[in-house]
Amino acid sequence: MQTLLTAEQLSEGIDRLARDVRQACGDGPLTVVGVLTGSVVVVSDLIRRLDGPVRLSMVWASSYRGTATRPGRLDLRLDLLPDLTGQHVLLVDDIFDSGRTLDAILADLRGRGAASVRSLVLLRKQGRAEVSIQPDFVGFDIPDLFVVGYGLDYDGAWRHLPHVATLDANDLTPGGTEPAVAPPG
Ligand code: IMP
Ligand code: MG
Repeated sequence: MQTLLTAEQLSEGIDRLARDVRQACGDGPLTVVGVLTGSVVVVSDLIRRLDGPVRLSMVWASSYRGTATRPGRLDLRLDLLPDLTGQHVLLVDDIFDSGRTLDAILADLRGRGAASVRSLVLLRKQGRAEVSIQPDFVGFDIPDLFVVGYGLDYDGAWRHLPHVATLDANDLTPGGTEPAVAPPG
């Protein structure tokens, strides 16, 4: 495992994101919608830096299954959302990979009568987008590597790391015996 982004770099990135969001959205009420589970760390750090009134709601999405590192079928649960009519909404996720998660949730949010809907991701993987949309705010562009930490997991592990790290082939092989990862594509 190798550190890709240190806790200090992440902290500076969140500061910058919070400033950019307030500059674009103004100082009024903002409804932050986090995507469970990977966004919990970025959401909790971000909302404490967003000066001014903030409401928080969460949705749930999963496109990863166990030890796979490429997306599978996308499951969404949006039933916890409050009434968004007239609200300025900021959708927050950990990473923009294929973009299918953000694209699908944004499409739903845009049908709920919000005054505005924007999106923010901590990380964006280079050369992976399968959708035409891009997030409004991006913390860091990273190479096409599987990463963990600061909310991001591999098979449920590593979310608690204070930094973002890349996983080596060894880390992807439970027990170090046989490859657990399907080839890309
Ligand atoms: P997308 O729909 O392909 O953009 O995938 C977005 C979701 O996949 C993210 O919210 C993450 O949960 C997960 N994901 C994508 N890449 C990684 C990674 O490198 N490490 C951990 N999770 C990832
Ligand atoms: Mg996720």
